[in-house]
Amino acid sequence: MTEKPKLRSRAWFDNPDNIDMTSLYLERYLNFGISLEELRSGRPIIGIAQTGSDLSPCNRHHLVLAERLREGIREMGGIALEFPVHPIQETGKRPTAGLDRNLAYLGLVEAIFGYPLDGVVLTTGCDKTTPALLMAAATVNIPAIALSVGPMLNGWHKGERTGSGTIVWKGRQMLAAGEIDDEGFIKLVASSAPSTGYCNTMGTASTMNSLAEALGMMLPGSAAIPAPYRDRQECAYHTGRRIVEMVHEDLKPSDILTLDAFHNAIAVNSAIGGSTNAPIHLAAIARHVGVDLPLQDWQDVGHKIPLLVNLQPAGEYLGEDYYRAGGVPAVVAQLMGQGLIREGAMTVNGKTMGENCATATIEDEKVIRPFHQPIKEEAGFLVLTGNLFDAAIMKTSVISEEFRARYLSNPNDPEAFEGPAVVFDGPEDYHARIDDPAVGITPETLLFMRGAGPIGYPGAAEVVNMRPPAYLITEGVSALPCVGDGRQSGTSGSPSILNASPEAAANGGLALLQTGDRVRIDLRRGTVNVLISEAELDTRRKALIEAGGYAYPASQTPWQEIQRALVGQMNSGAILEGAEKYQRIAQT
Ligand code: FES
Ligand code: MG
Repeated sequence: MTEKPKLRSRAWFDNPDNIDMTSLYLERYLNFGISLEELRSGRPIIGIAQTGSDLSPCNRHHLVLAERLREGIREMGGIALEFPVHPIQETGKRPTAGLDRNLAYLGLVEAIFGYPLDGVVLTTGCDKTTPALLMAAATVNIPAIALSVGPMLNGWHKGERTGSGTIVWKGRQMLAAGEIDDEGFIKLVASSAPSTGYCNTMGTASTMNSLAEALGMMLPGSAAIPAPYRDRQECAYHTGRRIVEMVHEDLKPSDILTLDAFHNAIAVNSAIGGSTNAPIHLAAIARHVGVDLPLQDWQDVGHKIPLLVNLQPAGEYLGEDYYRAGGVPAVVAQLMGQGLIREGAMTVNGKTMGENCATATIEDEKVIRPFHQPIKEEAGFLVLTGNLFDAAIMKTSVISEEFRARYLSNPNDPEAFEGPAVVFDGPEDYHARIDDPAVGITPETLLFMRGAGPIGYPGAAEVVNMRPPAYLITEGVSALPCVGDGRQSGTSGSPSILNASPEAAANGGLALLQTGDRVRIDLRRGTVNVLISEAELDTRRKALIEAGGYAYPASQTPWQEIQRALVGQMNSGAILEGAEKYQRIAQT
């Protein structure tokens, strides 16, 4: 029989050579009902990294689930120690929740590394909570398992499904067109949030939890269980049981988060119609675990994969339907049938992705389509480059036929679009000017948003998806192409080119663009170029540098300043540069 690995918590609790230090470590942990015998018994100590709080309502149900987690942990002989994670609530945090992902990451690395923990449960949910926790587990590399809080129940209004976020974009258009008033708007939006849980659309929360499962970091079939369901409680219990076994098996994030796992997650992201925030977060997790995952892999692995999951914003249904139709395993099984999944990738239950999903079936083909009857072909991202940025991504599946027709510059080249640019410097500038007819926005305009990247709007704002001016919406123009160095909400379906890196605030090419410049987007060649000469670009670049570079608002907090000084660009995960050298630190 192989010897069980020595638990790292023993370094705190049994040190016969230094009995006074041991007793110092011990005394306070006895205060809430753990006996001395238990702490010295060699039982695994399991952290519950708690993201739920009153400030984080999307994850708040984790406070309830933690009870079932504890029961599972204790039944398998573990000791549970629950502790708080820095709150991140997507829609409530100023200036943007994106700023806090790296902060929560830092805090959690210190907590897991610095305390006597043998394993950790990552309570995931609202957008940034999932990547922040996976990034930290990747850095420290002790056995870790994610538990999703699950989506809210479906929202309903007048017999129709109303989905989180998506209904806000729609409501704003109705408001701008005078179809509803303020009260009607609030009612509509509130209807989309009927219970505890995270956004019920395929926004960034559903995406990142689905991808945590596709990466192998969550029990199979568990990502999509709605928060209030009985199955969610049961899942918490099994997650608690399983993490104790993982500690005994020494099954660590580095055993699971391999390149194969990331490629599986990219494939699943296309099939579920996942958020454009996913490339940023997966890059960040990959860098912290030491896997080389170039942005180009998103196009190479993911672009050709069709959209199978019929969830808003790309489709019709919501979270409850997704779960009932089979969730992630049903999607993986469809992709496996086409050889699109690296089946040997290890997962937290000790089995491979292939073993877990081999017999998974679709339970409702309206919600999850069979591979050969997709909702859309080629649902993944294109990676674009040009003289305005080195890298940006685009979800081509959201481009409608009507839209293609409007922007076509040459009928023989149906993948090239061209138009005059209107440039906004940050969301405040956009909101102040969008409805002003003097700005001159027409149905042919390309809208640009800059100053919204990880440095410019610290953390990168979800503001690239800009609605057209009200006067165009009333004429039936519901979307204009948007390009920017910010992010886009996963709940928005607008045709945007986003996450442009380097951003304007890093003096990237977008900083040189002027309203009125013509810009050409060529999807076949994967390029976005402003149609001005190199010489003119050089002149503008010199002028920009002489003026002290692209101007952005001052930092408001110490963390904003620290993050701005250290953060990298979105194409490489927008992590704190330098942090990636601390790898597998529990083993050091
Ligand atoms: Fe928290 Fe959508 S706002 S999950
Ligand atoms: Mg979001």
